[in-house]
Amino acid sequence: MAVTALVGAQWGDEGKGKIIDILAEKSDMVVRAQGGNNAGHTVVADGVTYKLHLIPSGILYKNTVCVIGNGTVVDPAVVLAEMDELAKYGVDLSRLKIDARAHVILPYHISIDELSEAARGSGDIGTTKKGIGPCYMDKAERIGIRMCDLINLSVFREKLANNVKIKNDIIVKLYGGKPVDFDRIYNDYTAYAERLAKYVCDTSVLVYDAIKAGKNVLFEGAQGALLDLDVGTYPYVTSSHPVSGGFCIGAGVGPTLIKDCIGIAKAYTTRVGKGPFPTELDDEIGDRIRNLGAEFGTTTGRPRRCGWLDAVILRFAVRVNGLTGIALNKLDTLTGLKTLKICVGYKKNGAELRDFPSDISELEGCEPVYEEFEGWTEDITSAKSVKDLPKAAMNYLKAVEKLIDCPVKMVGVGPDRTQNLEMR
Ligand code: GDP
Ligand code: IMO
Ligand code: MG
Repeated sequence: MAVTALVGAQWGDEGKGKIIDILAEKSDMVVRAQGGNNAGHTVVADGVTYKLHLIPSGILYKNTVCVIGNGTVVDPAVVLAEMDELAKYGVDLSRLKIDARAHVILPYHISIDELSEAARGSGDIGTTKKGIGPCYMDKAERIGIRMCDLINLSVFREKLANNVKIKNDIIVKLYGGKPVDFDRIYNDYTAYAERLAKYVCDTSVLVYDAIKAGKNVLFEGAQGALLDLDVGTYPYVTSSHPVSGGFCIGAGVGPTLIKDCIGIAKAYTTRVGKGPFPTELDDEIGDRIRNLGAEFGTTTGRPRRCGWLDAVILRFAVRVNGLTGIALNKLDTLTGLKTLKICVGYKKNGAELRDFPSDISELEGCEPVYEEFEGWTEDITSAKSVKDLPKAAMNYLKAVEKLIDCPVKMVGVGPDRTQNLEMR
C-alpha cells in the first residue's frame, strides 16, 4: 500500500470514512490535509457508529498515528469534543498530531458564514455554516490565527484583538449582526489551547519521516472533486482543495511521494447544498435512494439530493486526481430497482458534451444521455466476494469501469467495515 491518497470522487459523502477505516488497519499513519468539520465521515465498527468530523478515520486502530495537517482549518471546541467522545470508547488520543500551521476557526468565522449565507438569500451556497470559508479567507488575507499562534498567549491576544475589531465591523456594519466578545473568546480559546498544546507540532516532518522509513501512509480526503475550490462547480464549492493535489500543499509533502490515488464514489450520485446536479432525480426513485441509502447529512442532517450515477463526473474525477482506482460504495442501495441508468454524456443543442464543463453556466439546457442496465433483486449485503454478486450487479460494475476508464478496486455492499468486497 505504501503511500495512498483517498479522495471523494463526487460531491462528498461517498463513504470515504468507511474505506479509510478499512485501509487504516494496515496503515501506520492517516493524514487529513484540507477542510475542517464541514466533513462528516462515518465509520461503523463492531456495532458502533462513529461520526468523525476532523479526527482522521484511522484513530480507531491502536497503532495508527493520526495527523491533522497544515492545510486544514481547526475548530478547537469541535476537535476537543470529538476527542472526549472517542476517549469514552477507550481510544488512545496520544497518537493525534495537529500541525502548528493549521488555521483556527473562531466564533467570528462561524458568525460571518451564517450572516453572509443569509444575506445571499435564495442565491446562497448552502454551506455547512461551520466557518470554513471565512477561515480560509483570513488565511488568504494573511490575518489568520494558526495553531502555533493559539498556543502562544501573547501572540494570540494581539492577533485576536486585531481580528475581533475588523470582524465586528463586518458583522455589525455590513450585516447588522451581533458583535463577538473579545474577553469571552480569549478565555474560552486559551483554555482550549492549554488542552491542545501537547498535540501541536510540525506534521510535515512526521509525514515525510514516515514515508522515508517505508511506513504505510494514507491520506484521507474530505469533501469531493466537484467541491474543489479551483476545479469544482464554482461558486457551489468548498474553500479548500479536496483533489489529490491538495494533499501536497495541505500535508506539506511533494507530489512524487504519493503513489496511488483511489477515488471513492457511490454507485449513484448525491449532493448536499446548492448547485448544479445534472442527474438529480426529483421523483420516487430519488426518494427511494434517499430512504434506503439513509442519505441525510452527517454534519448538518440535511436531506441529500440523489440521482443516477454520472460517468461524466467520474471521468472528471479520474482526470483531476490522477485516480489509479475507484472504490464504489452503496451498491446495495440500488438493489430492487428494475432498471438502472448511468449518464454517459450531456446533450446540448443537438451536440454531445463528453467532459464536465469548466463553467457551470454551460450546464444550463444540458440533458443527461443515459445508458440503461438491468437491475437485480437479490440481497447483496452479506456477499463475501464479488463472486457472490448477481450477474446484473457485475455487469453494472464492468460498465462503470469501461465508461470511466479506471478499475473498480473495491465494492461496498453495506456500511460496516466488513461489507466491502475486493474487486481485484
Ligand atoms: P464520507 O463523508 O465520504 O465519509 O461519507 P459519509 O459518512 O458522510 O456518508 C456515507 C454514508 O454511507 C455513511 O452513513 C456510511 O455509513 C454509509 N455507507 C458507506 N458505505 C456504504 C455501503 O457500501 N452501503 C451502505 N448501505 N452504506 C454505506
Ligand atoms: P465530507 O468530507 C458533502 C458542501 C456544503 C456546501 C459546500 C460549501 O463529509 O464528504 P462549506 O461549509 O464547506 O463552506 O460548504 O460544500 N460540503 C460538503 N458536502 N460532504 C462534505 O464533506 C462537505 N463539506 C462541505 O454542503 O454545498
Ligand atoms: Mg460526509
